[in-house]
Amino acid sequence: MARHLITSAIPYINGIKHLGNLVGSQLPADLYARYLRGRGHEVLFLCATDEHGTPAELAAAKAGKPVADYCAEMHDVQAEIAAGFRLSFDYFGRSSSPQNHALTQAFAGRLADMGLIREVVEEQVYSNADGRFLPDRYIEGTCPNCGFESARGDQCDNCTKQLDPTDLIDARSTISGSTDLEVRETKHLYLRQSALKDDIAAWIGSKTDWPILTTSIAKKWLNDGDGLQDRGITRDLDWGIPVKKGTEDWPGMEGKVFYVWFDAPIEYIACAQEWVDAGKGADWERWWRTDKGADDVTYTQFMGKDNVPFHTLSFPATILGSQEPWKLVDYIKSFNYLNYDGGQFSTSRGRGVFMDQALEILPADYWRWWLLSHAPESSDAEFTWENFQTDVNKDLADVLGNFVSRITKFCRSKFSEAVPEGPDYGPAEAELIANLSAKLADYEGHMDTMEVRKSAADLRAMWVLGNEYLQSVAPWTTFKTDPAKAAMQVRMGLNLCRLYGVLSAPFIPDASADILAAMNASDVTWPDDITEAVSALQAGHAFTVPEITFRKITDDERADWAKRFAGIRD
Ligand code: MF3
Ligand code: ZN
Repeated sequence: MARHLITSAIPYINGIKHLGNLVGSQLPADLYARYLRGRGHEVLFLCATDEHGTPAELAAAKAGKPVADYCAEMHDVQAEIAAGFRLSFDYFGRSSSPQNHALTQAFAGRLADMGLIREVVEEQVYSNADGRFLPDRYIEGTCPNCGFESARGDQCDNCTKQLDPTDLIDARSTISGSTDLEVRETKHLYLRQSALKDDIAAWIGSKTDWPILTTSIAKKWLNDGDGLQDRGITRDLDWGIPVKKGTEDWPGMEGKVFYVWFDAPIEYIACAQEWVDAGKGADWERWWRTDKGADDVTYTQFMGKDNVPFHTLSFPATILGSQEPWKLVDYIKSFNYLNYDGGQFSTSRGRGVFMDQALEILPADYWRWWLLSHAPESSDAEFTWENFQTDVNKDLADVLGNFVSRITKFCRSKFSEAVPEGPDYGPAEAELIANLSAKLADYEGHMDTMEVRKSAADLRAMWVLGNEYLQSVAPWTTFKTDPAKAAMQVRMGLNLCRLYGVLSAPFIPDASADILAAMNASDVTWPDDITEAVSALQAGHAFTVPEITFRKITDDERADWAKRFAGIRD
């Protein structure tokens, strides 16, 4: 059995994520982790909260809380919601953990020892009223190009001109509104990514099996973007990981912290240490150190497309630059965006469905199924309430739910709550087995290559095959003339319920568990062979009729929800 390390991009701490965020990283990562575990592989699936940076500081200030308290609370909130969606992380860490502090400082020290850090004195805007340096996007003023009054320090949203904060007329702090700004000198550390360009280009060039979305973004940044210019890895902020050279002070860098995008990916490693320190795992090095066994590990990362440059260029620059035996990612699965009902999800305007709200209105499986079966893989995708209602009602209620309820109820009423006796399977069953075997091979193939939509379509096709079988052999008709044959058909149907419980678990874990519990199934291992799998439940095996597995979404609900989640439009 192989070993798989899986990470999802770690969500920012400030605020609850929307369904577009979920389907772009955590949810498909969970699908893959569950699938690989189901197939008997050893999996370490890690995620964490991304807790540093100005947005976290500002969100805490807005909530009127010290930033450390705010982060601790929001971490727990996100952990609970993740559990609600059945995201099966082996550990959900925090980028503010002591482990990440130490490891980030160690990486910086090592990179300095390798000659890859240089110190740069820069000019930056300082706000006297706020008592701090201001990141470019927290400065606003009038655009010198078009006169737009709310141009940001990095760009004018009206005429799109790239700006320097000092270009702005009547510049002011967006934090306090103060115009008492001045330019001050400040020293920062730069990672000499340019020195690593050839190594990174060669590494990316060797990844011929990566999704086109991933490589096209990586290559664009590598070749014509400025992705591999030297980059500042420190900031003048209070909240973050203090700049140190390993465990030593870094002269001249007192009071500064590492840039959030420097420490966040290092948390992927620190998270494995947290997992061990929390007593949940035995050894993190065999997952992360190639000199300690991690060369046997297959490492897969999941993320939205906006994260690709950081994972294909910046984080590998940290790893390669260290010249230490850290595990590099083997495969990067990236996603396009999910839009919401003719526009975008918007956190600031509360537009779209957020993870906590989703769980308030429907069980996790409904969302998991719709989101995964519409994952934005080859292009952006769109959530609409009509489509959600139609597809969930059809796939889950009419196809899978109806199959399970029809066959179990029929058996209970005509036989008993036990698998009935009957003859061996005949030609109709042989044909079904052949069709299911072919679809199972497709399903496994698509799951292995992380083609999420295609995997969902294969699984749905297996559910449909079961329905078509029942429809054509019609045990309710057979029963009138040949009850023994009907018993055999019912036996097949009940075995299919068990099989669906096993195969559907990566997508819809709760419903699958309910089905398996109702079928009283002790063997829930992934099938090697459909012929065997549909004989797992033998005559006499007791089962119960499950509670309704899926209910239908009504037109009234759909209309209510569409209104409720429309957000404050401008
Ligand atoms: N917090 C970032 C986002 O939500 C993702 C960080 S991923 C990591 O876009 F690489 F930094 F870990
Ligand atoms: Zn402008």
